[in-house]
Amino acid sequence: MNSVQSLQQLRTAITQARNAGQRIALVPTMGNLHAGHLALIKQAVERADFVVASIFVNPLQFGPNEDLDNYPRTLVADQEKLLDAGCNLLFTPDAQAMYPNGMTQHTIVNVPDVSAGLCGGSRPGHFDGVATVVCKLLNMVQPDIALFGEKDYQQLAVIRKMVSDLNIPVQIFGVPIVRDTDGLALSSRNGYLNAQQRANAPVLQQCMQTVKAQITQGERDYAALFAQFKTSLQAAGFRLDYVELRDALTLKPADAESTQLVLLAAAYLGTTRLIDNLIFDL
Ligand code: PAJ
Repeated sequence: MNSVQSLQQLRTAITQARNAGQRIALVPTMGNLHAGHLALIKQAVERADFVVASIFVNPLQFGPNEDLDNYPRTLVADQEKLLDAGCNLLFTPDAQAMYPNGMTQHTIVNVPDVSAGLCGGSRPGHFDGVATVVCKLLNMVQPDIALFGEKDYQQLAVIRKMVSDLNIPVQIFGVPIVRDTDGLALSSRNGYLNAQQRANAPVLQQCMQTVKAQITQGERDYAALFAQFKTSLQAAGFRLDYVELRDALTLKPADAESTQLVLLAAAYLGTTRLIDNLIFDL
């Protein structure tokens, strides 16, 4: 696997692959790779001939009091995992290469509507940062396909809308959430949890399963369901950020027309913010 830092090196490698008639896939990441990321690489290997992964801890998508400085950086281990998974090229730009004139002077991609509320409500500007960097990476690599995890369900919806609105010629694939054996969705941020918090963390998904079961059994008093959800999470040491039921296709609030729903939640264990979601049919 080749590893490149500069846009020029990236373009040279991409041009070679393109000239060889290869179908190109892009998997953007922030590194500290786990089995969730590697599931995206494996899907990419199945769907394309030349798989490009990027690792860039994008400062533009972190808020002023978030974990940018502490975000885990594990490049050597990541390179080994990517090689094993069949990745062909790793792109690791630095902030200077991505934002040569600084972030405040940079063009921002704002994806309205779908960026509002949920994580966008709790993390102002976060999805502008995500959309901007993903737009840049898509323009740099010009892949045929790009793959993103359903773990970040709102992010996937933001990227799909951006690609559609801006006519970016790429096909977007969503990949199901990869979980630990106890149900906790894999996340680089799980590494921040101490032993007690890690033991309690699967309660988030368990409580979401309970809400889902009650809804599929006909319960429609969402306020009561969510109040119970909050109480159960608090008992396990969580502080709830949000829980919402949305239409899985449009991400608008679920209504009578919705046939596929997504339950989305974010909650803190100590200072660590965990997110999860659950897609189900009515
Ligand atoms: P990061 O958190 O590193 O995630 C990279 C990709 O891996 C995203 O598409 C994310 O949804 C996916 N992913 C993470 N955990 C997963 C899991 N347990 N199961 C399945 N997929 C999972 O998301 C980002 O980086 C950034 O916002 C990025 C898109 C790279 C833009 O900076």
